[in-house]
Amino acid sequence: MSRLRDLEADILYVMINEAQLQARIAAMAQEIAADYADEPDLLLICVLKGGYVFLGDLSRALKRPHELDFMGVSSYGARTESSGEVRIVMDLKEPIAGRNVLIVEDIIDSGRTLDYMRRSLLARSPKSLRIVTLLNKPSRRAVEVQVDYVGFDIPDEFVVGYGLDFAELYRNLPYVGVLKPELFAHLNA
Ligand code: IMP
Ligand code: MG
Repeated sequence: MSRLRDLEADILYVMINEAQLQARIAAMAQEIAADYADEPDLLLICVLKGGYVFLGDLSRALKRPHELDFMGVSSYGARTESSGEVRIVMDLKEPIAGRNVLIVEDIIDSGRTLDYMRRSLLARSPKSLRIVTLLNKPSRRAVEVQVDYVGFDIPDEFVVGYGLDFAELYRNLPYVGVLKPELFAHLNA
């Protein structure tokens, strides 16, 4: 017999609620629109899977023409620590040569994923390349990477929801929350 898991019951506390997320995203969208005011072309590249919720809200808040593309990158298995190994599991549909590219990330932790993406996209000769991330854990940085727009700096806690997963679950929670540590403690041991 199988039972549906109560995802909310696994959350220790809500770190950033829905209203805080939407207010910050609206402000970021305005800043981005202003920065690209003189550029007719703008391509948002969503880093899958975690970036899908942020991309949806940022794109709708961005009141100017823009196109979307998607890239699948995988650096974690069912653990909460990066292996340091980054793989492209799904590439962009179109070339980006000559385009204004904005990478849309859910969270920057060690910086390895973004550093890898940045280098691999720069090799394709975009006109410009910038990075927007909803969440940033500055204390965890192992590789320096320049980030142009940051939604929230957060402490070193493992968070889920709003696109972020643990072992592929919790992405659909509408807020950013901290998982009860007993749920993943054994994996990092
Ligand atoms: P980095 O390569 O260590 O910077 O890790 C970036 C990726 O790891 C993100 O795109 C997330 O998919 C994942 N990640 C890092 N920290 C967390 C977290 O607290 N919760 C869920 N996923 C995370
Ligand atoms: Mg992930």
